[in-house]
Amino acid sequence: MLHWKPVTATLIGIAAICAPAAAASAAPLPSTEVAASTKANALTAMHGEAFAYAKYTAFAGEAARNGSPSISALFTRTAKVELTEHFADEAEIAGLVGSDASNLADAIAGETFEATTMYPEYAAQATADGCTAAAELFTEIAADEAAHAAAYTQALASLTDSSVAVPAAPTVDPVTVVASSPACSGQTQTNLEDAMRGEAFAQAKYRLYADHALQSELPQLAALFRGIAQVELREHLAGEAVLAGLVGTNEANLKTAIAGETYEATTMYPDFAEQASAVGDDAAARVFWKAGRQESSHASAFTAALQRS
Ligand SMILES: [Fe+2]
Ligand SMILES: [Fe+2]
Ligand SMILES: [Fe+2]
Repeated sequence: MLHWKPVTATLIGIAAICAPAAAASAAPLPSTEVAASTKANALTAMHGEAFAYAKYTAFAGEAARNGSPSISALFTRTAKVELTEHFADEAEIAGLVGSDASNLADAIAGETFEATTMYPEYAAQATADGCTAAAELFTEIAADEAAHAAAYTQALASLTDSSVAVPAAPTVDPVTVVASSPACSGQTQTNLEDAMRGEAFAQAKYRLYADHALQSELPQLAALFRGIAQVELREHLAGEAVLAGLVGTNEANLKTAIAGETYEATTMYPDFAEQASAVGDDAAARVFWKAGRQESSHASAFTAALQRS
């Protein structure tokens, strides 16, 4: 449950708040100016990295529960690289993190879209597909996202109005991502997969926004970003993962991981690196090449673990 009194700012009002707030909070992190194609590729890669982090975290939980601590540790270790190295490095290329005010405005826009458009549409589709469990979950998540938008709106107002407090972070009711088979089919299964990717990206993004808020000496704002990030990962994505059948046996999970790492190592990152070099974005190209080499070693480590299991 979320305990705060949302302010009644409209999105138009938020835009008006943003300008002075940007000057009042910390300056944006320096971001390299890159070509539009490099930025788009960085964002694509970030979605993959954020989802890999979430997926491997779920795979690690399953391995821990079924008595395979070394496989669990390998997934956890690899997940950390995807989030704290690859996603973070690519976020710099993309210029993801801005001022605290612009980070909040971005978060409000994302949460509002999910609350008012995406999840209500997914819920209606799930009802049409006869998947009641997904319709209920999507409806419940839409309400949470509306509360996130309200909390972030209040936090944004707090940057320029000392009488407004940053709301407390929501409590998290974690869902265990047990091994499962897909509960729905057709478009709803596709929507569950898309929704998981959106939640994974939101989680990773809010962690960086939290880091920036800490640098601005706004610990309550950092706590809000971190708390909502946990809801996205451990409630929303986790609930969707159970219905989508994300987690299988260790063998199936390792094979999924090997396929993803191999694609990134042999196709995606080399393509992105070559495209970046071609437009003179050499620093970005180096980041993509390095990530590709590391994905290759992840594929090898997962392959070795599969052979041992
Ligand atoms: Fe949210
Ligand atoms: Fe969410
Ligand atoms: Fe990887």
